[in-house]
Amino acid sequence: MLSHAIIPAAGLATRFLPASKAIPKEAFPLYDRPVIQHIAEEAAQAGIHNIVLVTSEGKEAITDHFDRINPKFLQGKLPEEIMRELERLEELAEVIAVRQKSQKGLGHAVLRGMTAVPTDPFAVMLPDMFLVSRDPDNVMVRMKRLYEQHDRPVIALMRVPDDDRKRYGMAEGEERDGFFEIRRLVEKPGIAGTASNLAIVGRYLLPSAIGPILEKTIPGAKGEIQLTDALNTLCSKQPMLGLVLRDDDLVFDAGDKDGYAYANAYLAAKRVPGFIETLRRMTS
Ligand code: G1P
Repeated sequence: MLSHAIIPAAGLATRFLPASKAIPKEAFPLYDRPVIQHIAEEAAQAGIHNIVLVTSEGKEAITDHFDRINPKFLQGKLPEEIMRELERLEELAEVIAVRQKSQKGLGHAVLRGMTAVPTDPFAVMLPDMFLVSRDPDNVMVRMKRLYEQHDRPVIALMRVPDDDRKRYGMAEGEERDGFFEIRRLVEKPGIAGTASNLAIVGRYLLPSAIGPILEKTIPGAKGEIQLTDALNTLCSKQPMLGLVLRDDDLVFDAGDKDGYAYANAYLAAKRVPGFIETLRRMTS
């Protein structure tokens, strides 16, 4: 049964310097909670309450976030609403951290995380990608359903413009009724490398059979062990399905300065009355 999610969070976040110099980008707030909590909440919606963080030095803040509340905060009386939020956070997930001592790529991070995953299948969730689903059945819930219906690995896919084929892993295959049957996966091929516009979003439901494949996967793009390459090998052995995101599923690349700004602005626009109007007035 699906109960565990691996969240790779060992990267240096050079795209986000100087903000990420001393604070892990996964601890940056998206409106009122850190990125990592949003991801844990997304997982919890699909019934996943065991989180395996793959971390490295300097990333302790993200594990600490799931720890018991520091008694310092309880000395003064906290508002009822905040207390409830904090209690809810304590219930959200059981978190353990596995170290990735050298940055050998996403495939290597997943392999490290798998050492703490007893279940088959398990999820992999990339915290850079902040997903908002207006439907209460979020992307992970729909992926889980597809996995249960077909007993096949499932990865989330989104349609991207041609130019973004160099930014993402891309999936080729056939559109079926309710899902996409994947034939080939290729990491950041660019416009010339594939005719497909379906990109890998950063949400995966995988069988443990990916482990031995990852162990044999040689470094690919950027000299790193790529999860996409291992999945492509898996795909040649057993059919793999894609869940194509809908127009009302929003995706923000919160690992990028601009994407992060949009994600924060989106949440503020949803939560702060008059936010957009006030901002427009201030910037006009
Ligand atoms: C990773 C994956 C890529 C996927 C992307 C989604 O790349 O390797 O296939 O499309 O995440 O964000 P990264 O962004 O870590 O370079």
